[in-house]
Amino acid sequence: MLDRYTGVLLFAGLGCFGLAFVLSAVYPWMITDGTRPEASIEAVATPVTTEFKQLKESYPVAFAQAFPRADECLTDQELVDVAADDPRRTASDGAWGAAHAVALRAGRDEYVGQVCWHCHSQFVRPVANEAVRFGRVRSAADDNNELQRPVLWGTRRVGPDLTNEGGRRSNDWHVAHFWDPEGTSPDSVMPRYTWFFRDGFQVVRGIDPELAARQGLSSEREYAYPGVFETQAEAEAELARIRESADPNLKAETARLRVVPAKGPDGDGLAIIAYLQWLGTWDASEREETNQ
Ligand code: HEC
Repeated sequence: MLDRYTGVLLFAGLGCFGLAFVLSAVYPWMITDGTRPEASIEAVATPVTTEFKQLKESYPVAFAQAFPRADECLTDQELVDVAADDPRRTASDGAWGAAHAVALRAGRDEYVGQVCWHCHSQFVRPVANEAVRFGRVRSAADDNNELQRPVLWGTRRVGPDLTNEGGRRSNDWHVAHFWDPEGTSPDSVMPRYTWFFRDGFQVVRGIDPELAARQGLSSEREYAYPGVFETQAEAEAELARIRESADPNLKAETARLRVVPAKGPDGDGLAIIAYLQWLGTWDASEREETNQ
């Protein structure tokens, strides 16, 4: 009986396809029509996310090589010793903004270049309870910035929507996930991104043997300190620094420090993580308005 309508159905199907095609051209054009100025990457790079600041603490060497004015970016830890009226504070704010802007641009370029958009959407629609799965529904305001050129809505959803990815996972989770997605997400079909990593050296501390015995943990267990260094000598210097600054009561602890070969994200790895941690964090006031 449907046979009689095949022509109509074909026409309707093609019509829907055509409509979607036209809309995905018209909508981006509408949001860039000039009624609201498009925000530059520099503008959306502030406020700087907490996660970006943590990246500098965790990977100071790769951070310094990848981003400008890294030495002026003071971590929260470093700010503790800087007086409230010290000009380094203001310089630090500016430096963080500049470094973040470079990271976001490079991260967006990686997102495009590594074809992340082929498996991930950045478009939470107001249908089918998508907001329950992926968070806040996407608004046109989200797209009105330079990082959304080209508009990265994606083509399909093999993996989850990333509109609101910022702050959902820790940096460490992202590092582990890029190294081996199946390590954090069993049965994941996301490919490994091992080229976001480089070899280096890191300080680790062996577990307290008594604690290990008491809790039934392996006595081989080691805990990494932040910082993946390029050369063994740099890591040894860091080890010496940790030993020196440690509480004298912790002699037994610092005796168990050693330097081991390690892998850490390189500049591209840091940039893509910075980008993911930024997604959905921009313009909180706009967010509240569109949420109602
Ligand atoms: C072949 C498809 C595919 C490609 C390509 C891909 N992913 Fe994924 N991604 C997935 C799948 C499937 C998951 C869900 C399982 C998991 O967590 O690994 C996922 C999960 C994620 C998550 C975790 C989201 C969350 O909070 O649960 C992030 C972040 C992510 N991908 C980022 C990226 C980035 C960045 C790229 C490009 C460098 C990328 N993906 C490329 C398929 C893909």
